[in-house]
Amino acid sequence: MCGIVGYIGPEQAADFLVAGLRRLEYRGYDSAGIVCAERGTLSIVKSAGRVDELASLLKRVPARGSLGVGHTRWATHGPATDENAHPHVGGNGVLALVHNGVIENFRPIKERLQQKGYVFHSQTDSEAVAHLIADELAMLPTSLDDALDPYAPLIAAVQAALAQLRGTYGLAIVFRDWPDVIVAARLGSPLVIGVGDHEKYIASDGSPLAGHTDQIVYLADHELAVITADSIRVVHRDQGDVEHDVKQLTIDASDVELGGFPHFMLKEIFEQPETVRNAMRGRLDRDAATAKFGGLNLTPQQLRAIDRFVLTACGTSWHSALVGEYMIETLARVPVEVEYASELRYRNPPLTPTTLLFALTQSGETIDTLAALREMKRKGHPTMAICNVVGSTIAREADGGIYLHAGPEIGVASTKAYTSQCVVMALLALHFGRLHHLSYEAGLRIIDDLERLPEQVEKALETNAECRRIAAKYAGCENFLYLGRLYNFPTALEGALKLKEISYIHAEGYPAAEMKHGPIALVDEHTPSVFIVPRCGVYDKVVANVEEIKARGGPVIAIVEEGDHEVAQIADDVLEIPATADFLQPIVAAIPLQLLAYHIAVLRGCDVDKPRNLAKSVTVE
Ligand code: F6R
Repeated sequence: MCGIVGYIGPEQAADFLVAGLRRLEYRGYDSAGIVCAERGTLSIVKSAGRVDELASLLKRVPARGSLGVGHTRWATHGPATDENAHPHVGGNGVLALVHNGVIENFRPIKERLQQKGYVFHSQTDSEAVAHLIADELAMLPTSLDDALDPYAPLIAAVQAALAQLRGTYGLAIVFRDWPDVIVAARLGSPLVIGVGDHEKYIASDGSPLAGHTDQIVYLADHELAVITADSIRVVHRDQGDVEHDVKQLTIDASDVELGGFPHFMLKEIFEQPETVRNAMRGRLDRDAATAKFGGLNLTPQQLRAIDRFVLTACGTSWHSALVGEYMIETLARVPVEVEYASELRYRNPPLTPTTLLFALTQSGETIDTLAALREMKRKGHPTMAICNVVGSTIAREADGGIYLHAGPEIGVASTKAYTSQCVVMALLALHFGRLHHLSYEAGLRIIDDLERLPEQVEKALETNAECRRIAAKYAGCENFLYLGRLYNFPTALEGALKLKEISYIHAEGYPAAEMKHGPIALVDEHTPSVFIVPRCGVYDKVVANVEEIKARGGPVIAIVEEGDHEVAQIADDVLEIPATADFLQPIVAAIPLQLLAYHIAVLRGCDVDKPRNLAKSVTVE
């Protein structure tokens, strides 16, 4: 939540800052702003609204300087106004900073600073940090004016201020009187530094850096970086200077561009044949009829001893965890608990010593998932991340893990990461199934099923035109039900979430038979029910549920297997997907549900890639 960028080098900083903010806009889009420094002047340009509005403003009021930082905001403290937009100024303009995170104790700090005469212009917690650093800087003994280390006062002041904060921060700070340096600091909110030739970049994640540099340094919690055009010095809160590794950035510029699609969401939906393939690449082992993972770094004995899994996640990732529960319990016969991370972090469920935690997360930064992982680690359970963003906090803090390799997901609504997570769940079910009771032959059959999957996803994408037609028919409805059973109960939850988050239509997902216990009261001619009803063990039962809705005058949109004439005779509209193994149906069936939600949202004039009130990476509790 909130995106931070920074630049220091020979070019005008504003160009990179604005382009970088566009790439980070999925993290929040309530307001945007930049500060650039030149010849002892800090020029701040900021406004409520999107980065586009900031860009137009900059045409009229340019911000000059070859050093600067920028911010795109997801509001926490105070509404989306010009005043609350970042950057915020500290002292009488001695510094300006951008902040991502939440400072829980900002009120007493603010009151204390107000008593000392500092004037606040916003309702944000971040402005308190700006004044606090300025105050610490003003109070430094002059002995710190060390000619050998011109940045010693900055480090001392920032560290003294950070020591007083409770909460989370990613910070990038520029100083009026130090025109050749940016100081960055991190606790709980991600920050990376891009390494260029006589230039450096700062960003909340690697996407703004793509096309500029592929050399990247990840800041860790409690680290502070002093960044000049030619150097990066990393200082740990307790350990003094620390060595920093330069890693390879794997994102390509084309990954973060629309490539001819009108929206990232549609682009990402259409990438799924490839992303599903990438999630399996190199992980299917025909010789042993199993799945293998480099990152599942426990010995076979330890893995075999695991007698319970806890899968934890938020939102869409929680839905793929539910799919995982069905897969793992069916194929591997190991008990699985699926926990909302926001609950697990404060719960104390009884768990065996040999319980393994998997944290599922696209971004690897979701604060609740991170906190749940830390809590489980603290209790001594091994923890694994199933994560898309390479080098993200959860990926680095987990004991091991599995990357999705889906490439950057920019649309706020998760699509390709969801199907990739489901694929990884299937691979895990196969892996643990083979460790326990699955036969060699059964393992091979599962591999065959998995290898056919990318083609089936490709075929499911052919429903696009039909999804658009059906979307036009129902786009005016204000309530939807999504119904499915067994493997497709989580699919129903995910279909409903996709629709509600991007079209603002109320939608509920339910196990199909459960709707008789309440939701059926909602059914009328204006409330469509979307049934996920491919052939499976409970096919006849779900068809009976379809009949029950039709008998009450409710329109039915059915996702069926190719050639299914039975449901076609009852349902109002039908979307055909290719036949696949039961456990892979959630992946194939997700495609028309994503497309349906997408087209309905477009027809309703919604901002599909940036739905209101949301942000992609939820780094506040
Ligand atoms: C919905 C969506 C969110 C995320 C949730 C968790 O489309 O994207 O519900 O799934 O915020 O995010 P990650 O997976 O990054 O932990």
